[in-house]
Amino acid sequence: MSEAAHSEAQVDSGFVDSDFVPRAVTIAREAGAGLREFFAAGVATEYKGDADLVTVADRTAEALIRMRLSESFPGHGIYGEEGTRERLEGEYRWYVDPLDGTTNFAHGFPQFCVSMGLEHRPPDTAPDEDGTLTAAVIYDPMRDELFTARRGRGAELNGKPIRVSRAHQLAESLLATGFPSRKRHLSPNIHFYHEFTLRSHGVRRAGSAALDLAYVAAGRIDAFWEFNLNPWDTAAGILLVTEAGGAVTDFSGKPYRLDSREILASNGRIHAELVKLFGDMFAGRDLAPIPTAEEFARARAARGR
Ligand code: IPD
Ligand code: CA
Ligand code: CA
Repeated sequence: MSEAAHSEAQVDSGFVDSDFVPRAVTIAREAGAGLREFFAAGVATEYKGDADLVTVADRTAEALIRMRLSESFPGHGIYGEEGTRERLEGEYRWYVDPLDGTTNFAHGFPQFCVSMGLEHRPPDTAPDEDGTLTAAVIYDPMRDELFTARRGRGAELNGKPIRVSRAHQLAESLLATGFPSRKRHLSPNIHFYHEFTLRSHGVRRAGSAALDLAYVAAGRIDAFWEFNLNPWDTAAGILLVTEAGGAVTDFSGKPYRLDSREILASNGRIHAELVKLFGDMFAGRDLAPIPTAEEFARARAARGR
């Protein structure tokens, strides 16, 4: 089936693909309104790991999204961060992060969102093969910003088309990254943060991977990378970036897969330069050493202040 024919294809439960986004928008807005209320009231923090937080807001939002998606699309699968695993054998599968940016949320830092990405998995899709990302909704309830994308039909912010930025080189780019909340001591990302900071206008670490990807799509940042993400963090954002004209790969420039975990998303124009820098860094080439705290203290003492 051609792309265009597919996007209008009649699917189970009588919906065509283009119906998915409006329904998902209603659901994301309802979940986002709930998050706004919890945020205003304040919630207790629980721990999933030593710095991996969860709150009643995460669980309540996922339960709501699960219920609403099941009512709207009874045949669709749901794969949610807070444990929902339903109908994963279905032809369509929603990847749901009910609250991306929980650490921000728990501290009263207003940068978080609801993220819902839809994968189409035709019946001949092998279990270890990706389907096609077909619909995306990311909702920032604090700014009332709604990012949406449909396969082959572009990406939008609050109903207006968005495009990736026009930056041509890393040296003129603003970047974003994130750090894991589990096994933090095993992450090498601080070295990448350092190198990319020295070679760009700067690296933001705002604490919501889904919004970082949406910001690449909207041209607010030129690229984003992170180690160790999950499909609920990335599925919606990937479609947003690609529909807005950008590129998404792993760190070696190979096509991104939903289980890749390492993600590099950019405006496309600076992608090759980023991939080369990842290659150089993994090979230990051309690195700028970071002074240790001890070296810095010695130099400071030698300067007498
Ligand atoms: C986290 C955020 C953060 C990223 C972490 C994610 P959560 O998701 O996206 O920006 O750096 O790796 O785990 O836990 O807030 O849903
Ligand atoms: Ca997340
Ligand atoms: Ca989450």
